[in-house]
Amino acid sequence: MKILLKTLSIVSVFIISFNASAAGGGVNLDHADTDITDEASLQRGAKSFMNNCSGCHSIELMRYNRIAKDLNINEADMAKNLMFNAEKTGSKIFSSMPVDGANKWFGTTPPDLSLTARAKGTDWIYTYLRGFYADDTRPYGVNNHVLKNASMPDALWQSKQDKSELEFNREVRDITNFLDYVSEPVKLIRYEIGVKVLGFLFILFILSYLMKKEYWKDVKYGKWRAKD
Ligand code: HEC
Repeated sequence: MKILLKTLSIVSVFIISFNASAAGGGVNLDHADTDITDEASLQRGAKSFMNNCSGCHSIELMRYNRIAKDLNINEADMAKNLMFNAEKTGSKIFSSMPVDGANKWFGTTPPDLSLTARAKGTDWIYTYLRGFYADDTRPYGVNNHVLKNASMPDALWQSKQDKSELEFNREVRDITNFLDYVSEPVKLIRYEIGVKVLGFLFILFILSYLMKKEYWKDVKYGKWRAKD
């Protein structure tokens, strides 16, 4: 029992410190509150990402037709409205930015965003995208609360001007949700399987319990056991 308690406390300390270190180094992160099962949100997020971000950022681990299939987007619509940097729906999602140009313009290459949601967390992305503020000392006139001196311009600046705060937050949430899905596309399937497995285990538990009762009946009141 003591060992169990010790192990539990060590594990919980580990989990707490891991969460703290994932939380973006001292900046208070807002809750992204995304829902990967919300298909409409993922569709809006995909559209917004292709329009605002794919010029600079690639998602190299993802193909257009996989997104179309997972998010129930018609492939023809996808090719017409969402593919700016590719000819085939089977292509991976590369950005249209030449590497040497990127280095010249931003001092760095815009990172691939395939796994960013797993590396930094959805709260980080959500807060980062909403965290730009005017700063004349920076090349693009903006700085960022979450990533100090970020070399990325405020890509959603126009949206922020045109939309109400509520709508803007929703757009950022949709993009974040989309990046969360992209970082682990099987999550959608895994959730579904998870529910089925838990259901199966629950039924198995009831059956095993009934069987255990049946077996122990013999042990407790067994005909074969000598009465004392
Ligand atoms: C004009 C080019 C450009 C556009 C457009 C752009 N970004 Fe960026 N982004 C960058 C650059 C450059 C960096 C690297 C910043 C740094 O490290 O200082 C970056 C960094 C990021 C990061 C941090 C990644 C990490 O691991 O540090 C995220 C997340 C991100 N961008 C998301 C987006 C999203 C979402 C959009 C669309 C709404 C977008 N970006 C549009 C250029 C761009």
